[in-house]
Amino acid sequence: MRVTEPRTLAPPERRKAHVTGVERLGAYHLVHAHDSGGPRDPQPGQFYMLSAAERWGGGADERPYLPRAFSHARAREGELTFLLEVVGPGTARLAELRAGEGLALVGPLGVGWRPPGEGTRPVLVGGGIGAAPLLCLQDELGSGHPVLLGFRSAAHAEAASLFAGGAELATDDGSAGRQALVTDLLREELDADPAATVFACGPPGMLEAVRLVCGELGVPAQLALESGMACGFGACFGCVVPTNEGYIRLCVDGPVLDADQLESALFPGAGH
Ligand SMILES: Cc1cc2nc3c(=O)[nH]c(=O)nc-3n(C[C@H](O)[C@H](O)[C@H](O)COP(=O)(O)OP(=O)(O)OC[C@H]3O[C@@H](n4cnc5c(N)ncnc54)[C@H](O)[C@@H]3O)c2cc1C
Ligand code: FES
Repeated sequence: MRVTEPRTLAPPERRKAHVTGVERLGAYHLVHAHDSGGPRDPQPGQFYMLSAAERWGGGADERPYLPRAFSHARAREGELTFLLEVVGPGTARLAELRAGEGLALVGPLGVGWRPPGEGTRPVLVGGGIGAAPLLCLQDELGSGHPVLLGFRSAAHAEAASLFAGGAELATDDGSAGRQALVTDLLREELDADPAATVFACGPPGMLEAVRLVCGELGVPAQLALESGMACGFGACFGCVVPTNEGYIRLCVDGPVLDADQLESALFPGAGH
């Protein structure tokens, strides 16, 4: 039976945090907001449903209509930081927020990363924007553990600078770090010392490769998955994913799942 508690619970309402700044970091944006009404201890791997307090929807096709899900990248004394990649109307609006504007949020939601298995060292593996929930995990575990990151290009790889002690880098085009897949770095790391627990977040193809490498070497892995989320708190069933124990709602039983709960990490996202 999967243990889903304790977790930090969200206050049962949408509240307004105050944007303190938005920074560009290579291909990504960092949104900082002061969440005075929220819990001080969101757990790494949990997430928030975000929307701009003003000008959210109402454009030509009314999108973005629903809030969007984002892992917090950092949480320090009520200051939340989100790392965003602009891919559609929701992320575009959040990236153009300015200090003093309101950020509507619900959270923290879901179940995040669990501690590494006894006698194992943590190995953090991120692909692209999947680096976000690994940052607060590193804040909790401390630096000094391997951080392996894969990006499309050097502009995306600037996110690696957020990690204490840096990270081992792979890029698709070789413009930063090695021209390799992050799972190539992972295999080398685990071949050298397989007494590890892997914490991975990234696109479905990468997570599937992580699941297969770890399964082959008998290394426990926790995977932070994505699914289209309309509510974020278990009401809509829009985020269900198949596991070995049947369908689960990723927003309440995840987004972090044990790799051995899954036959495949390739879940389709949904438009919303
Ligand atoms: C738990 C969780 C945590 C997340 N954390 C982060 C994070 O930290 N940072 C971050 O940047 N993102 C994060 N995401 C992803 C983010 O929530 C989505 O990318 C969100 O949909 C972006 O909203 P949007 O309006 O900008 O783009 P959307 O319009 O929702 O589009 C998102 C992507 O889906 C594609 N898409 C949209 N509709 C369809 C469709 N009908 N068919 C096929 N493809 C479609 C788009 O082309 C685009 O690539 C997270 C998601 C989850 C579930
Ligand atoms: S997003 Fe609504 S049930 Fe998970």
